[in-house]
Amino acid sequence: MELLKQKIVNEGKAIGSDVIKVDMFLNHQIDVDLLNEIGKEFKKRFSSDKITKIVTIEASGIGIACIAAQYFGVPVVFAKKGANRNVGDNLYKADVFSFTKGTTTTIGISKDYLSPDDHVLIIDDFMANGKAVHGLINILNQAGATTEGIGIVIEKGFQPGGDSLRSLGLKVESLAIIKSIDDGNIIFG
Ligand code: G4P
Repeated sequence: MELLKQKIVNEGKAIGSDVIKVDMFLNHQIDVDLLNEIGKEFKKRFSSDKITKIVTIEASGIGIACIAAQYFGVPVVFAKKGANRNVGDNLYKADVFSFTKGTTTTIGISKDYLSPDDHVLIIDDFMANGKAVHGLINILNQAGATTEGIGIVIEKGFQPGGDSLRSLGLKVESLAIIKSIDDGNIIFG
């Protein structure tokens, strides 16, 4: 998605050789016009798929998923982090290890909001090692729901998440894939 790539190049900041800071339009301050275009693009890429629900994970995924959901006309359900705390038993849960943070978080979604009739599009802001998305798929499997596809705004192609999901036969659509960060320059794949 050219508009997104231009935004990343013009406003994003490479931190070292593996982190891209996009706080100014995606992760902290949010460019709503850009999110609208992102929502339309996801709809275009998943137009032939039967989608009944969009699932994401708090926090950054929520805004992106909600704007995209308007183009699909379906509800958004977001996984809550810290679901190991006492929030009752009515949850599907999965443990997600973050390489970036070196910590494991339990994520959870209420059993009230997923069913075997659901055909789910997973949406998230970043794909790095893919552990968050694998955790969401684990939860969808527990619910008997169908994972129709995965829409990612920025995939770090030099980390294994995207390919690990594609190798399972899943449809993964990333709107910008970063091949490498070379001396502060962001190179797209
Ligand atoms: P993984 O799920 O793909 O395995 O990724 P990982 O655990 O390594 O990432 C942990 C958090 O860091 C995630 O957000 C992820 O979106 C974010 N992240 C990973 N790489 C980058 C990057 O290069 N730039 C930015 N800006 N973020 C990155 P999170 O902790 O769940 O945060 P949030 O959704 O609450 O904002």
